[in-house]
Amino acid sequence: AVGPVPFKDICGAMPLPSAATPRPSDLRQWVRCYQGTWVPEYHVPGIVAIRESFAPRRGDVVLVSPPKCGTTWLKALAFATMARGAHPPAGAGHPLRRLNPHDCVPFMEMLFAAGCGGKMDTLPSPRLMATHMQHSVLPASITHNPDCKIICMCRDPKDMLVSMFHFASKLAPNISFSDVFEAACEGTNISGPIWDHLLGYWNASKANPEAVLFLRYEEMLRDPVEGVRKLARFVGQPFSPAEEEAGAATDVARLCSFDTLRSLEINRPAAAARYGNDWYFRKGEARDWANHMTPDMARRLDGIIQEKLRGSGLSF
Ligand code: A3P
Repeated sequence: AVGPVPFKDICGAMPLPSAATPRPSDLRQWVRCYQGTWVPEYHVPGIVAIRESFAPRRGDVVLVSPPKCGTTWLKALAFATMARGAHPPAGAGHPLRRLNPHDCVPFMEMLFAAGCGGKMDTLPSPRLMATHMQHSVLPASITHNPDCKIICMCRDPKDMLVSMFHFASKLAPNISFSDVFEAACEGTNISGPIWDHLLGYWNASKANPEAVLFLRYEEMLRDPVEGVRKLARFVGQPFSPAEEEAGAATDVARLCSFDTLRSLEINRPAAAARYGNDWYFRKGEARDWANHMTPDMARRLDGIIQEKLRGSGLSF
């Protein structure tokens, strides 16, 4: 087979956090500082294992995002774009119509934390994989490897926090939005500090645009078809004139749209799911923060982010 192929088809279900994994009733106790970045404690063994043993291969594409910035969407878009030779995006039998995007593209921290990192070796090239790790924590075997590419998706931090709050509430109903918000302002939110996460990949994309593509959730929402074209060019699979004529880029964007993915049976709420596929599809919009934050909160977080990003050329 030629990749990417859905992870689940070759390797079986992605490991989930064990039932014994503490729930984030107190976010501050749930995360731990790893080399200046804040990560869920149960990811740490995975991060260590990735740094020690991940063996990159020519053609690997690593998808990166802070949590709740559109990881699920990016997985779907990259998979559908790169696998379009084997799986026409308009086809009724497309893997994304029967599998959640997280079953198609493995989450590295979870896989390696579960001791299953070796499963990556069984995937045909080119492989797709995803991580929430900050750039400073990624192994040099990825960041200094001309054979690996990185695609980063970022999002207005205010919307990221709102999305995080709703997601975390599923695991721990007592969480308050102000806990999530204060942690972010302090830099101790999951995968934080946010500004370091953003700057790491932003600067890497400026220094080496062939190796690192920096996408913005809001821009992708505005023009998903153009986003798909950009992604395709970046991975070395631009749409041919014949494909454009046939509407292939539009088909990818349509297949991966919020409405399409959310309405698929596989992504509908399922009884007794410990992590429901439907949790990854909430609103799929920009500026929902205005429904959760006071103008003062928004100004405060914007001020912090602006200050930290000053001079970088990146702003929100
Ligand atoms: P909201 O909670 O604001 O709706 P992640 O995949 O990193 O966990 O991010 C989840 C966020 O991306 C959620 O945001 C979710 O609704 C949104 N999302 C998921 N799939 C999407 C898609 N196909 N298009 C746009 N947004 C999507």
